[in-house]
Amino acid sequence: MTGAAGFIGSTLSERLVAEGATVVGVDNLSDYYSTATKRDNLAQIDSDRFSFVHADLNEIDLEPLVAEADVVFHIAGQPGVRGSWGEGFSEYVSANISATQRLLEATSRTDSRPKFVYASSSSIYGDAEAYPTHELTLPRPRSPYGVTKLAGEQLCRLYAATSGLSTVSLRFFTVYGPRQRPDMAFTRFLTAALTGTQIDVYGTGEQVRDFTYVDDIVDAVSRAATVDVAPGSVYNVSGGGSHSVNEVLDIIEELTGRELNVRRQGSAAGDVARTSAETTAIRRDFSWAPRTDLRAGLQSQLEWVRGVLARA
Ligand code: NAD
Ligand code: UGA
Repeated sequence: MTGAAGFIGSTLSERLVAEGATVVGVDNLSDYYSTATKRDNLAQIDSDRFSFVHADLNEIDLEPLVAEADVVFHIAGQPGVRGSWGEGFSEYVSANISATQRLLEATSRTDSRPKFVYASSSSIYGDAEAYPTHELTLPRPRSPYGVTKLAGEQLCRLYAATSGLSTVSLRFFTVYGPRQRPDMAFTRFLTAALTGTQIDVYGTGEQVRDFTYVDDIVDAVSRAATVDVAPGSVYNVSGGGSHSVNEVLDIIEELTGRELNVRRQGSAAGDVARTSAETTAIRRDFSWAPRTDLRAGLQSQLEWVRGVLARA
């Protein structure tokens, strides 16, 4: 598993060890956000079936690691739509494209040929041609980040086609819940609500997301290890709702009982107006469905943020 110290990777590691798997987690603890937060995430994976390798995917010899694995879960990456413009882009290329190519190359060279599960993104669609968006819709990212995630996905498809590697790409739609990254909307909004600080809303707040609770994401990723699907497959994974940022703020106001201090900002470069996934394929092939609605998911993320603030 790569990216094991991050938001999704640490939650997935916990899920996999709870299911009885042995997990080797690799992460370079990049400083995109607090390294202490990532170490806390790791500390919560409380199992002797979990071991951690502190390393950069672009630097270490990956073959010995993947040779031991039945499945390679490639969750590491440089996330975040808004930071991918300008000079920041080189880190996106390195973490999302070069690291993915090195890992695919190493995996394709092993005799054991483990399955390869890739964390892709709704950002590959950009402002999509149609909603809900089907996997066969023409990808046309609106941010440099989305371009690099699409390149990673295309590399998976390529290694599947040329080396017969059994790859599956899962396009996650805006993921939230406990441990959500500090640059993402809900962690920012909930923290500001509880501390009485200002919330910056980019644009009108009428932009819509198909928000997805992290436990539903890791459930889908875990199932990807065992489902029998064609090499190079691609699936949307989403919560199945369509909620605007303004609706989210209303729910947060209700859940916290606090009046929010909202300031409207200009819209953020690369921010799409809407995401909404067609999920017929994953429901059918993975026997998977999302279980957590927005209100319940926000409540559990609120409890987590309360805990973080209490420990600070
Ligand atoms: P995160 O930043 O919390 O986790 C990513 C982890 O990858 C970090 O711990 C980081 O240190 C590690 N990493 C980065 N570059 C590395 C490298 N070169 N070598 C080793 N480790 C490296 O982010 P997240 O929100 O948990 O996202 C995980 C993955 O899911 C990313 O690939 C992201 O693009 C994708 N994704 C996330 C979302 C979302 O809403 N959070 C949505 C769609 C796709
Ligand atoms: C998220 C992740 O950050 C990406 O890594 C991921 O790939 C992407 O989802 C995806 O689905 O593929 P985003 O939808 O921008 O990207 O998620 P948030 O950061 O939670 O933002 C949600 C909305 O809130 C956006 O419209 C954003 O502009 C808005 N927002 C965010 C604010 O108005 N204020 C903030 O302080 C933060």
